[in-house]
Formats: sequence, structure tokens, C-alpha cells
Amino acid sequence: MLSRRRFFFRAAISTLAAEVALHFRAAAQRLPTVRPNDAAAGTSAARAITINVNGVERTMRVEPRVTLLDALRDRLGLTGTKKGCDQGTCGACTVMVNGRRIDSCLTLAVMHTGDRIVTVEGIAQNGSLHPVQRAFITHDGFQCGFCTPGQIVSAVALLNEGKRLDRDTIRTEMSGNLCRCGCYPHIVDAVLEAAGTS
Ligand code: FES
Ligand code: FES
Repeated sequence: MLSRRRFFFRAAISTLAAEVALHFRAAAQRLPTVRPNDAAAGTSAARAITINVNGVERTMRVEPRVTLLDALRDRLGLTGTKKGCDQGTCGACTVMVNGRRIDSCLTLAVMHTGDRIVTVEGIAQNGSLHPVQRAFITHDGFQCGFCTPGQIVSAVALLNEGKRLDRDTIRTEMSGNLCRCGCYPHIVDAVLEAAGTS
């Protein structure tokens, strides 16, 4: 037989459980429904943009919230550009926009209508590797290779910037491109060779 004390305790627990269930149901009703593939599905919020990627005009529909990185990888299938941190700290997502290197995870695709984007897939020309790519191979500038596309795009843009390069300058200029395998000395050797100053 239930004691009076236990009876009240059980009643209190039931009431609390009912309150919690009501709270979560109300909260769920307030939340908007988020579908992961809204951007790909072309919801009403999506808009058409045209960007030049590696010399080819590409038109796609994206929601305003889609980053350039996700548009390149998920919409255009250009998975050479890597997603490391997705918050602007690792440089794995580096691409060139109108000749300048940027973290593509930090910018929205809709901001780039009419821009010229170069990804790692656009670095080699007519089947020939870029001197930076050849130098990375010669100097073993990678281990796992995850950071390598970003390193290469960053290095090519750096050479195009026309700065006078030595080891310290290269380290500074490419400090936004992290390599968790620690290949930095080899990467610097590769960039020096590609710059013709090694
Ligand atoms: S994925 Fe963009 S900086 Fe790391
Ligand atoms: S080669 Fe592995 S992170 Fe750079």
C-alpha cells in the first residue's frame, strides 16, 4: 500500500514530467523546420547566381546562407577545395577570387555574382602542372594532403602578388594556411623553388 508521502511524491513526478513534455512540444512548434538540402532543393529563398569558376561560367540556384565553399563543393562538385574548420582559421578552403586568395568558408556564394573564382582544379593548365604543384611534389610538401589544395592555391596567388620572397616572408604570407602534418619546411622549400629564389 502506498504511503501518503510516496503518493504525493509520485504525483509530483508525474506533474513535472507532463510539464516538461508540454514545454518541449511548445518549443518544437516555435522552431522553423530546417531541411539540410534546402539549398540543393531550390527553395523559394534560393536565387540564381552566375560565377566564373576556373574559366567557365556556372549558373546555379543557392540560398543566401550558402557559403562559397559549400556552393563549390556541393553544388558544382569541386571537392578539391577542402572544408577543415569552416570558420576561417585553417586555410584549407582557400580559393582565388578575382586574383586574391580568400577563405571560401567565410563568404557567401551570392556575394560573388560575376566574380572570377579559381580553385585548385583550375591551377594546372592544358594538362600541365603549375610550377608550384611540381615543386610540392619535388619537395614532399605534404603528407596526408588535406591542406595541400589550400596551400597550393595560396602559394600560386602569393607568387602572382609579385612580392620579393624569402623563407621568412613565405612563412608570414602563408601563415593562414595550417598544416597539421607539420610539412612547413618542405612547403617553404617548394614555394621558394617555384618563385625561382631557392
Ligand atoms: S575551412 Fe575555411 S578556413 Fe578552415
Ligand atoms: S599535409 Fe596533412 S595537413 Fe598538411
